[in-house]
Amino acid sequence: MPLHYSYERCNGFARFILLFLYSRVTELLKVISDLEDSELDGKRVLIRVDYNVSVNSGSVGEDFRIRMTIPTIEYLTKRRSKIVLVSHLGRPTDRQPQYSLAPVAKRLSEMMGKSKVKFTSSNIGKNVRQEIDGMEKGDVLLLENLRFYKEEESNDPEFSKELASLADIYVNDAFSTSHRKHASTYGAPRLFDVRLAGFNLRKEVEYLSMIKDNPSKPFIVVLGGVKINDKIGALENLLPKADRVLLGGAAAYTFLKAKGVNTANSLIDSEHLVWVTKALSIFGDKIMLPTDHVISSSADNGYAAMVKGDIPDGMIGFDIGNETIQRYSSEVGGRGSGTVFWNGPMGLFEIGLFANGTINIAKSMALAYWRGSKTLVGGGDTLEAMKRAGVSEGEVSHVSTGGGASLKYLAGDEMPGLAVLTDE
Ligand code: 3PG
Repeated sequence: MPLHYSYERCNGFARFILLFLYSRVTELLKVISDLEDSELDGKRVLIRVDYNVSVNSGSVGEDFRIRMTIPTIEYLTKRRSKIVLVSHLGRPTDRQPQYSLAPVAKRLSEMMGKSKVKFTSSNIGKNVRQEIDGMEKGDVLLLENLRFYKEEESNDPEFSKELASLADIYVNDAFSTSHRKHASTYGAPRLFDVRLAGFNLRKEVEYLSMIKDNPSKPFIVVLGGVKINDKIGALENLLPKADRVLLGGAAAYTFLKAKGVNTANSLIDSEHLVWVTKALSIFGDKIMLPTDHVISSSADNGYAAMVKGDIPDGMIGFDIGNETIQRYSSEVGGRGSGTVFWNGPMGLFEIGLFANGTINIAKSMALAYWRGSKTLVGGGDTLEAMKRAGVSEGEVSHVSTGGGASLKYLAGDEMPGLAVLTDE
């Protein structure tokens, strides 16, 4: 049974088989280092990366996703492959200049030092073909934003064929887009005889598989952020395995509302109240919720107060309070064993008045790591929060590049970009 058969659509035995196959993804994935050096020498390698990074006024902001691909690129340049990189950036509706990958090529060049990265404004056709024909061994070429072609997202067969014709070997090092069934993640790779995982993708899969299938105990999950919707699948799989699930953000207010606490004007996800009530009835003893809150009547009035229990009418909860921070911090950072997985901020941390909860969780994650726990952080917001807390990427066992993709993987959902690497 192919791995992309949706877990959601299965039940009973089929679901069991699918989970079994997912748990074998790490074994099934072939990685670039599985090839002999001679099989890479002089070969054109198309690497799907995820350079969906923030670009402001033509210059790259946070470049974590670019840095994470360097090991794969350098492994291949040292083995004298010709590297053709493809990525998307944002969700352009047309060839909008602010979504060009040209600034990313510049940043990548700076990181690569001696080997300069070339850039072309087209992804298919004569020009790009000529550019690739002229490449020397070890050269790196980045093509323009794939989403400047609507055929990318529609997984168009002709576009896939064009992309596939650019190289001899396909590599996916973009775990964070592997939940998308697009031409560069699914249609094109199917046309290659040799399709492999890059080092970053394999590391993501290894860590997330460990969380999903076999987390060392005690296993603590910290979930925050705005939407519950995209976390329900992951929660369904993690709740039975976790020893504690600590909730913050709008997810926590929805659970508090289901418990009859007054959440006043706080953001809640009313569509999922029934699901939340059921989750509480089965797993209530392991779900931890905030007992105090930082509140205000609006996000931007420069005023905040702390309350315990119910949130007064007219007010909005924007962050977890000090007592909750203490409880959560000791669960996360208080022991030096087991596994901690964190996805999503505890409050509106972009505003200083409401950042304390998230910053303290970030610091506790670092403490847990230094004490010996395995720690995994997922989601762009969470990475930003770590930065604000002064916690470096080296102070967690693994930082996932993919927020949406990691939640989908943990939920056992369809991952076409992985399936295509493991299907025969
Ligand atoms: C992400 O940022 O999560 C990935 O790059 C995927 O982007 P998308 O949600 O626009 O497909």
